[in-house]
Amino acid sequence: MEIKRDDLIASLGGEEAAARLDSESKADALEDFLSSELDKALTSKDPHFPTAAEVEQKIPTRHFRMGVGNLFVAQAPGAKVKMLPPMPDKPTLYDFFALRFGPANHVLQSAALAMKNGLPEEIILACLLHDTAQALLKTDHGYWAAQMYTPYVPEKTAFAIKYHQALRFFADPAYGYEYPDLYRRLFGEDYVPLPHIRADYEMLRNHPWYEAPRLVTVNDYYSFDPNAKVSIDPFREIIGRHFQQPKEGLGNDNSPVAHMWRTIARPDMAL
Ligand SMILES: [Fe+2]
Ligand SMILES: [Fe+2]
Repeated sequence: MEIKRDDLIASLGGEEAAARLDSESKADALEDFLSSELDKALTSKDPHFPTAAEVEQKIPTRHFRMGVGNLFVAQAPGAKVKMLPPMPDKPTLYDFFALRFGPANHVLQSAALAMKNGLPEEIILACLLHDTAQALLKTDHGYWAAQMYTPYVPEKTAFAIKYHQALRFFADPAYGYEYPDLYRRLFGEDYVPLPHIRADYEMLRNHPWYEAPRLVTVNDYYSFDPNAKVSIDPFREIIGRHFQQPKEGLGNDNSPVAHMWRTIARPDMAL
């Protein structure tokens, strides 16, 4: 595989930052850099966007499917999945962030941007959680995530998480949201969103809560600087106010979605 040195150095935060890393950190950073097809699409500077047919032709070239959850596959050729640290007996949202969702840079940076932009707490929380179900699977991740969080977050937060996925496919100049080049690379430049996505977009256009998922898309921010200071700490008060942590622990609370949390906690279970 060809690795573009400039992209890797940029991913490390520039030449100076890269020089400060020890070799183990560099190896980890390299592994992370190469770990995801999504990351590769994000860092690509190729002016040519594939067609939807070209994207489809790549399916049988992989040993995994693009919708598989991040926890379940090592995407780089020849790479192996890592041992996962055990979860505590009564896991909290913080434990899932620390032990199963990582690296969670994308959602932490999205939430930090939403906070900087002075958005309501329900939306900041939605930004913090919006892509975390990608640990479980990527296909329809907004819908999965909304279901997974519905018992624990405000209704508007779950709504924003669910529909950010559909609104990502539709520009809205009023909010400064453009159709992402990333999607031209991932889906093909002539890709037409699926019927359920188009139907939900039509529904959302006239919905009084349209702005909630739209604001998630506006703050859906990617950065590849592994030295960026990201932490869940700035969001602890918001989580405390708006996330109903079950006292038994997520996955042990017999909620309708407890199995989703258990699956993320123990992805190495054979059955
Ligand atoms: Fe997303
Ligand atoms: Fe996102």
